[in-house]
Amino acid sequence: MRIKDPKIFAVLSELGVRLKPGTSLAELTSLGIGGTTDLLRIEKHDAIPNLLNLLDSHGVPHKFLGGGSNLLVGDGELPWVVLQLVSPEPDIVLKGNFAQVDAAADLGRTVTFCAKNDLGGMEGLIGVPGTIGGALRMNAGAYGMQIGSYVRQVKLYRAAARKLETLEGDQISFEYRHTSFAPDDMMLAVKLELPSKPYREILKGIRICNEKRRASQPLGQKSAGCIFKNPPGASAGRMIDDLGLKGLNVGDARVSDRHANFFVNAGKASAKDMLALIADVRERVEKSFGVILEYEVVVWNA
Ligand code: EPU
Repeated sequence: MRIKDPKIFAVLSELGVRLKPGTSLAELTSLGIGGTTDLLRIEKHDAIPNLLNLLDSHGVPHKFLGGGSNLLVGDGELPWVVLQLVSPEPDIVLKGNFAQVDAAADLGRTVTFCAKNDLGGMEGLIGVPGTIGGALRMNAGAYGMQIGSYVRQVKLYRAAARKLETLEGDQISFEYRHTSFAPDDMMLAVKLELPSKPYREILKGIRICNEKRRASQPLGQKSAGCIFKNPPGASAGRMIDDLGLKGLNVGDARVSDRHANFFVNAGKASAKDMLALIADVRERVEKSFGVILEYEVVVWNA
């Protein structure tokens, strides 16, 4: 979708919002799939309520983009604009055991920055691509930990109330790859409380998780991580693997040979290819195991 109204341009610049017309979302997502639209880069959280009122009053639909690492975007010209936060300097501020982190901060960098300051707990998240905001919204987790356990406060834009709000940790529920945030809430910043641990010890944990990940996941390839959530008590990856589906493809969309719950873009896969592959695998799992797999990846299909 393209913004053409000069009245909107004028207000955007007043709000300090940078417009990047005709941006390819394939370049902003780890899957390397997605069509084009206008991208609005937001520098100040305070500008968000006015920005959204502006877009709504001109009938411009929008979506919030984090790091684009758990996302499958549709092909072609997209029917909404995309909003993304610009990371401030500094984006992580430490005070004792608390880390105040901007939602646009890179997750891996946050884990290592805290580690270097003897704050641990998030070792399992090393190697998970994306931003803190995305990790928070999905309650990212790995190797027995999840980010939600460390969240003490969240600053967000509540689309329903049309205002910025601060929630305490106990007002939010964090479940397996799910949170109580509304789909149109926009994460802005989080306060984490992390356990003290010597850097060297944290580093050991980080190395172990890195090795496990390298051994079992297709890290060098374009993917959105796991496509499906694990059903209770089972592993989606193992089920897909047991059906012999590694390497199954639709065009360049392919079930990874390394981990069957990772679907990779092996070249020029389209969203149509990837969605067809996902539907095919889902159907086969349902037929063989009687289990309907739930999406873990977020799909923005036009
Ligand atoms: N397995 C297979 N074949 C495969 C893949 C896995 O047999 O192709 C088996 C493994 O051998 C293992 C079991 O299935 O016995 C579980 O596999 P793994 O340890 O790789 O974990 P997972 O359940 O597939 C989950 C998360 C990952 C996270 C890892 C490590 C989900 C959907 N996936 O994977 O998260 O990195 O545990 O903690 O919860 C993600 O969120 O995108 C993601 C990749």
